[in-house]
Amino acid sequence: MIQKNSPVPIYFQVEESIREKIESGEWESGEAIPSERQFCEQFSISRMTVRQAITNLVNEGILERRRGRGTYVSVPKLNLELTGITSFTEQMAQQGKRPETKVISFERNSASKQAAKELGLDSEEPIYKVKRIRYADGEAIAYEILYMPVKIFPDMVLKHAEGSIYDYIEAQCGLPIQYGKQELEAAEAGKKAAEALQLEEGAAVLKIQRTSFTSEHQAVEYTKTIYRADRYKYVMELERKH
Ligand code: GLP
Repeated sequence: MIQKNSPVPIYFQVEESIREKIESGEWESGEAIPSERQFCEQFSISRMTVRQAITNLVNEGILERRRGRGTYVSVPKLNLELTGITSFTEQMAQQGKRPETKVISFERNSASKQAAKELGLDSEEPIYKVKRIRYADGEAIAYEILYMPVKIFPDMVLKHAEGSIYDYIEAQCGLPIQYGKQELEAAEAGKKAAEALQLEEGAAVLKIQRTSFTSEHQAVEYTKTIYRADRYKYVMELERKH
């Protein structure tokens, strides 16, 4: 397949042949591709040439290198819209993914200073603190810590956190969410998030904090969510500001 006498550089020919295998579906997303050594043997070319071809495809986002494990066909990222206020369950539906939730812990505590401030409570007021792992088609992609005021949701139990919490707040408790305040920043996965998301500690993640309010300006939830940076892409429409 590789034509050594062709004016087309060899690394480019290798690149094209990898691209073709992916486009034809012979190599599927998430699948490992042959090792650099295997390419060298198959095409009788140097390791440097193979490496250049692979690096170009990694830079384009078509392949990804996983440390110590080899090179894989990239999995397309999920598009997370940042302009509207949507629930995880709704985001998954938009992407055609099956959502699942695992509640790791469900506690009733007195509010920490920060959670109290975000939810407009006095510190020490009772609060629920719920840790959840959110899955897309069976893959853990978000680790979430959710705080909700007990006085607004006196009857909340663990079962409610196993499904959509927005559905519980809006449909079951009759408190439509109207707007939110959100912060997004790059971060490194801490021990717990790394464990939950099956990442190495210190891997790049996106941290989003959100407080959601009703039309009466009542804060109903405050969340800290850690998203896998390699599975999400953030999309927003921008309005020109002067
Ligand atoms: C997103 C938001 C959270 C919110 C959650 C609700 O993850 N970042 O603030 O709590 O959606 O999702 P669901 O209704 O599926 O539980």
